[in-house]
Amino acid sequence: MPSTFYCLLIVLILFSACVATGKNLDGYYIPKLSVLPRTFIQDPTWEVRASVSSKDFQTFFYNQTLDHFNYRPESYTTFKQRYVINFKYWGGTNASAPIFVYFGGEEPIDIDMAYCGFPMDNAGQFRALVVYVEHRFYGESIPYGLTLKKALSDPNTRGYFSSAQALADYAEILVYLKQKLNAKHSPVIVIGGSYGGKPLKSSSELKDYLISLYGNAAQYNDPFTRRVKVMCDAIDGASPKNDILGKIFAGVIALIRNSTCYINRPFSPSQTDLGWDWQTCTEILFPDEITSDNTMFQPQPFDLNELVNNCKRKFGVAPRPHWATTYYSGHDIELVLHRFASNIVFSNGLQDPWSKSGILKNISSTVVAVYTTKGSHCLDIIRATEKDPIWLVKQRKTEVEIIRKWMATYYADLRAFGK
Ligand SMILES: *[C@@H]1O[C@H](CO)[C@@H](O)[C@H](O)[C@H]1NC(C)=O
Ligand SMILES: *[C@@H]1O[C@H](CO)[C@@H](O)[C@H](O)[C@H]1NC(C)=O
Ligand SMILES: *[C@@H]1O[C@H](CO)[C@@H](O)[C@H](O)[C@H]1NC(C)=O
Ligand SMILES: *[C@@H]1O[C@H](CO)[C@@H](O)[C@H](O)[C@H]1NC(C)=O
Repeated sequence: MPSTFYCLLIVLILFSACVATGKNLDGYYIPKLSVLPRTFIQDPTWEVRASVSSKDFQTFFYNQTLDHFNYRPESYTTFKQRYVINFKYWGGTNASAPIFVYFGGEEPIDIDMAYCGFPMDNAGQFRALVVYVEHRFYGESIPYGLTLKKALSDPNTRGYFSSAQALADYAEILVYLKQKLNAKHSPVIVIGGSYGGKPLKSSSELKDYLISLYGNAAQYNDPFTRRVKVMCDAIDGASPKNDILGKIFAGVIALIRNSTCYINRPFSPSQTDLGWDWQTCTEILFPDEITSDNTMFQPQPFDLNELVNNCKRKFGVAPRPHWATTYYSGHDIELVLHRFASNIVFSNGLQDPWSKSGILKNISSTVVAVYTTKGSHCLDIIRATEKDPIWLVKQRKTEVEIIRKWMATYYADLRAFGK
C-alpha cells in the first residue's frame, strides 16, 4: 500500500444481497445491493436521513485511465469519473488535517452520499475533508459517456468493469487529490462497504420471492423498523381461519405495504441490477446454498454449471470462481490479515446474516472487529440520528476512537520523521 493509505479504515459492512423482488431477462432472481432496503419497504425514517444538504458538496470529474493494467494504445483512453468534495470542515494542509474518503459501491454515488453519513457526521471533530468517489460504470462514471446498458452490451467496453480497475481508480484519484490540494501529509481514512451478494437460483418464483423477502427482513432488521418482528407478528396474528398461505401473505403485506402487485411487479432494472449482474458473472461469486433440511427453507444446492451457462449466454464469459481469492487473497483470511494488514476496522451487526462471513474477532492491535449483537446491515455507516439506540451510538464511538488513536500515531510518526 502506498503511504497515502497510512490510515486505512474499512468499516466493512457487507453490501450484500438486498432485494430480490426484481427479475432479470432470464427470469431468474438477481440480488440488488444496497446500504438500505429502499425499494423494499417505504420507511420515512430513512427518507429523513437522506435529506443531506447538498450545497456544501462540490462535484468534480477526474480524467480516469480506462485500463490500469495494460499498455495498449486504448488503455490510455480516459473517461470522466465523478467525485464529490465537502470542504466545509477541512483544517487545511498546514494542519495536515485528515481526508475522509468514501469509496462508492455498486450504485450511483448520490445514493452513498445521501445515506452513508458516517464521514460527514465525524468530519467536524477531525476537521476532515470529505470525498465521495463514484465506482466506475455506475452513476455518471461510465466510460465513453455511455449508459450502463450500452456499456454492458459492448464486449470491449464491459471488459474494463472490474474491482481491480476500480481500486486502481481510487488510488489514482487519491494521489492526484493529495497533490492538487497540496495535502501530502494528510492522513487518509477510507470508509466503505465490501462487495457482497448472492445470486439466487430460482426453481419457483414464489419460493424465491419468499426466500429473499425473509432474508432481507433479517438483513435489514434495524432497531427502527424491526422487520422480523413486524413480519412474524403478522404471521402469528393472522386469523386462525387462514391456511398457511394466508398466514404467509399476512407477513408479506406487513412488510410490503400498499402494493398492487407483489411478485411479478413491473420491473425496470437499476444500475445496480445491471452492473451487479456483470460483476457476479465475472469475479464476484458467492456460492451460497441452502443445504440443510433443518431450516424453514427447502434445500437448494449451488449450481455452478447453471451460473456458468447463464453468464455465457448473457455476456459470453464464464465466471472465474477463484480469481478474487487468488488476486486479493481470501484463504485463511485471519492469518493473512494478521500478517499483512494494518489499520482496519471490521464492523458488523450480528442480525445481518452476512455477518456470519465477517471478521468478528480482533486480529492484531490495529486490525479490529467492532460488532453489535442487535445491529443489522450497514447500520453504523448510516447517518446518526437522535433515535439511535445506545449500543449503536457506542459502536460508532468506538470506531471513531480507534481512528483517533491511529491518527495520533500517524502524527507522531510525521514528527519523528521531521515532516
Ligand atoms: C480532462 O480531459 C479533457 C479533454 O477530454 C480536458 O479538456 C480537461 O482539461 C482534462 N481535465 C484535467 C483536469 O486534466
Ligand atoms: C500555511 O503555512 C504557510 C507557510 O508557513 C503560510 O504562508 C500560510 O499562510 C499558511 N496558510 C494557512 C491557511 O494558515
Ligand atoms: C398507498 O398508495 C397510494 C398510491 O400510491 C397512496 O395514495 C396511499 O397514500 C398509500 N397508502 C399508504 C397507507 O401508504
Ligand atoms: C477489539 O478491540 C477494540 C479496540 O481495542 C475493542 O473496542 C473491541 O471490543 C474488540 N473486539 C472484540 C471482538 O473483542
